[in-house]
Amino acid sequence: MDFVKLEMDGALATITIDRPKALNALNRQVLSELSDAIGQVAANRSLRTLIVTGGGEKAFVAGADIAEMANFSNAEALAFCEQGHRVLDSLEALPIPVIAAVNGFALGGGCELALACDFIYASEKAKFGLPEVTLAVIPGFGGTQRLTRIVGRARAKEMIFSGDMIDAAKAREIGLALEVVPPAELIEKCKKLAANIAKRGPLAVAQAKRVIDAGADLKLGDANAIERDGFMKLFATADQKEGMAAFLAKRPAEFKNA
Ligand code: CAA
Repeated sequence: MDFVKLEMDGALATITIDRPKALNALNRQVLSELSDAIGQVAANRSLRTLIVTGGGEKAFVAGADIAEMANFSNAEALAFCEQGHRVLDSLEALPIPVIAAVNGFALGGGCELALACDFIYASEKAKFGLPEVTLAVIPGFGGTQRLTRIVGRARAKEMIFSGDMIDAAKAREIGLALEVVPPAELIEKCKKLAANIAKRGPLAVAQAKRVIDAGADLKLGDANAIERDGFMKLFATADQKEGMAAFLAKRPAEFKNA
């Protein structure tokens, strides 16, 4: 892969969008490589967490590639949008937690990539925005929908109508970024959380993610039915027996992902 790096270190995978000369902008090749990397993560049962970040000093991802899009026909625009949606949907659907480590500009398609992760940790120099209207288009990789679900309709409209960037502190204030840390501490902060997640029951973490995501757009009663189903199913796992036996025996649990 030319522009996407996939590293696996024990239970942790890291995907780096690495095209710093174009501030890691997403063209069709980068999206295709990202799709391959996500497929490899999905196929590896020893992984417990994925971190997604940007290569170089300046950017997480500064958006979809404007040079590639500039002369798109309607059909090409739709195909590009569909490719972006497919790739980000597959990222969102991974059973393991995915942390966006936003180390710089996260604009347009880059902000949308971060929004498709489970949550965002940001460096103090991160900048977020959906500036598509400055190019006379709208977000096309899910930003109108995912941002709205995270920060609410009015904040999403403010960001999308104005095209303005917000800094990391503002992103935390509106619930877009969960944590803001000095740039040099960002990856360590994400790794620390990943190490904690790796100690928990893997099937339970995956079930929690499934239940939260599946219930998010449903009525509470229907969503709680999904929780009941997930809770019940975990009692057929060896890890549930081990987790509870270990607690009662006052010893650390050893989970087998089974
Ligand atoms: N697409 C293609 N190339 C990009 C890019 C993008 N989204 N963002 C930056 N680049 C390129 C620049 O063209 C420049 O290339 P050259 O060196 O060959 O000229 C290089 O990256 C460095 O960028 P700048 O010189 O502009 O760096 P800067 O520090 O002056 O500015 C910036 C940084 C404010 C992020 C600015 O680059 C910028 O505004 N980028 C575009 C952001 C944007 O509009 N993103 C949304 C794209 S539309 C989209 O994403 C649609 C969708 O939802 C699917």
